[in-house]
Amino acid sequence: MIKKGIILSGGKGTRMSPLTKAVNKQLLPIYDKPLIYYPLSVLMLAKIRDVLIVVNKGQLDQYKKILPDGKNLGIKISYVEQDKPRGLPDAFILGENFIGKSSVSLILGDNFFYGQYLTEKLKSSVKIKNGAKVFLHRVRKPERYGVAKVKNNKIISIKEKPKKFFSDYAITGLYFFDNKVVDYSKKLKPSKRGELEITDLLKKYKAKGKLSADFIGRGGAWLDTGSISDYYKTSNFVSAVENRQGFKVACLEEIAFLNNWITKKNIKDAVKFYGNCEYSIYLKRLIK
Ligand code: DAU
Repeated sequence: MIKKGIILSGGKGTRMSPLTKAVNKQLLPIYDKPLIYYPLSVLMLAKIRDVLIVVNKGQLDQYKKILPDGKNLGIKISYVEQDKPRGLPDAFILGENFIGKSSVSLILGDNFFYGQYLTEKLKSSVKIKNGAKVFLHRVRKPERYGVAKVKNNKIISIKEKPKKFFSDYAITGLYFFDNKVVDYSKKLKPSKRGELEITDLLKKYKAKGKLSADFIGRGGAWLDTGSISDYYKTSNFVSAVENRQGFKVACLEEIAFLNNWITKKNIKDAVKFYGNCEYSIYLKRLIK
């Protein structure tokens, strides 16, 4: 059972400059909460309680203001700084001590997942004992992502940001790995763009017949926060869902409370922490 998760939450955020000059992208709002709440909520829905957040060097204090150590959520949050964006697999090199002998999940700090069957799919994914697992989602612009060609629900080949059409199944930023991931990551060489590539890592698992895939499916959403316009579309999506249903997406305290990781007292403390805002009103309603 995978009990540890890493959120990769650094990056230069150049595509969103000047918004990201002073503040890290993952701390910017998606509607009513910081972007990082969404990937953290995914790990919490997978019942992962031991979380490492990789942040840019010099930005740790920003993060600790909003996500100190996880106690308030009944989880454990630790941090490691990345001095420059060396690529996604760097998470496993920086996280070697955190991972220890365990298997581990990785989620990208700027990825947004939503859907009816998501929690069930997550719960089954953390059960993988060996190998790696990814989630695929059909997209209209596959050239922007790592892409997988699929036959009979199996991945037959993988390419990072293919210039020519290859497949429209993007490999989303949520991955589940056995403990070999640390060794495999250390052996990777930077690609032409000068980064270690997650797709090269996945190819290693694929070559050994140890890569499995699941699909988010048409009923689920995987949204992009890469460009300014996609970022606002994601924000509008959350606004539409929350205002229509009256339920919040990625309310961390709600997930922790429903998982029985925290008590009403913790929710009251959260209300004090957040102050007089809509989020607090929602929290108060939870424990009424
Ligand atoms: O979003 C899914 C895609 O993410 C996958 O389909 C691709 O295979 C994968 O390579 C990746 O694509 P990008 O090149 O678009 O990833 P990006 O550089 O935007 O980084 C994703 C997040 O990880 C972002 O929040 C910044 C953070 N990051 C990235 C790098 C390279 C770090 O914290 N450290 C890093 O070294």
